[in-house]
Amino acid sequence: MRAWLLDDLTGIGSLRLAEVPDPIPQQGEVILRLHYASLNPADRYLAERQYPAKPALPHILGRDGMGTVERLGPGVTLLQPGDRRVVLRSEVGVNRPGTFAERVAVPVDDLVEIPAGWSDPEAAGATLVYLTAYQALTMWGALPRDSLVLVTGASGGVGVAAVQLARAMGHRVIALSRSDEKSRRLRELGATNTFDPGSPDWQRSAKAAIAPRRVDLAIDNIGGKLLPEVIDLLGDLGKVSVVGRLAGPVSEFNTATLFFRRIRIGGVAVGAWTRAESRAVWGEVLRLLSSVDARPLVDSVFPFGDLAKAFGRLAQGPMGKVVVAVAGG
Ligand SMILES: NC(=O)c1ccc[n+]([C@@H]2O[C@H](COP(=O)([O-])OP(=O)(O)OC[C@H]3O[C@@H](n4cnc5c(N)ncnc54)[C@H](OP(=O)(O)O)[C@@H]3O)[C@@H](O)[C@H]2O)c1
Repeated sequence: MRAWLLDDLTGIGSLRLAEVPDPIPQQGEVILRLHYASLNPADRYLAERQYPAKPALPHILGRDGMGTVERLGPGVTLLQPGDRRVVLRSEVGVNRPGTFAERVAVPVDDLVEIPAGWSDPEAAGATLVYLTAYQALTMWGALPRDSLVLVTGASGGVGVAAVQLARAMGHRVIALSRSDEKSRRLRELGATNTFDPGSPDWQRSAKAAIAPRRVDLAIDNIGGKLLPEVIDLLGDLGKVSVVGRLAGPVSEFNTATLFFRRIRIGGVAVGAWTRAESRAVWGEVLRLLSSVDARPLVDSVFPFGDLAKAFGRLAQGPMGKVVVAVAGG
């Protein structure tokens, strides 16, 4: 089969398309012939040695994907060749070969059905980002309906998922994006207000728009200098769910900003959930999305051979998920 191989941890620039032996399914696993796979910033972090996982090299990146079951390993009775499935967040593409390949071996417990009415590319990129967004929204306990939720990097995979789920939970969403066009799309997706974090007066405009209230929960995909600015908008007992750090470390941070409003900051780790937890949460995510008739947003679909261009699009800042068409690509 064809697969994108990562020979070393010097970055995605060293990925190469190669012919490799097909995977062999072990006990409880199936071989999924991939139709679509989707990209995540963590693929790049892993390739740059910025991620805890240290898989055997050469490694195949890619955590998300959908396809058709082609072969059953020993002990598999619940699936049949020809069944179509999506990879739920798992070790696929982390500590075991991933979905940037024509075939991948996946434990059956890490596969879920394709949600009714979703296209194949929509299904291919959904599981990791929705599970992450759900954890970010719920990790502090139940938020009362109509809470004010601010999402940074709201146009990205996790951001769009967070906007949609927060709306489905009945909250009011403030979305941050550096792009006017993506801000317009975010309002269509349900954000009440959007602001450009690159604008010097965005905090003043945001405070005026939500006055007399303050933000109850911030979901931060960005870090860097934006995190202290977001903390400034929080109200008493405000919380920050830290998902990502696309703008890098937070260099100047005054811990005193946490004292008087008793602000809490906590890390999100979608990989910390057990399989059973991930499956249960996925069911809840689907229930929430269907309650508001929402579905995943695909930014773009690249041919399999254009994985480098797809990573380029991810680095630019997509509107939803960046996907590669493995079959026929
Ligand atoms: N903790 C976890 O369990 C977990 C799980 C999944 C993802 N993550 C992390 O969460 C972060 C977001 O993931 P994602 O899949 O949503 O990423 P993504 O699809 O690449 O989107 C991120 C968005 O953030 C904005 N952005 C990108 N770089 C930026 C910068 N330097 N400064 C300001 N804004 C920037 C862009 O929006 P605009 O162009 O519209 O501004 C972009 O669309 C990543 O760091 C990822 O590794 C963590």
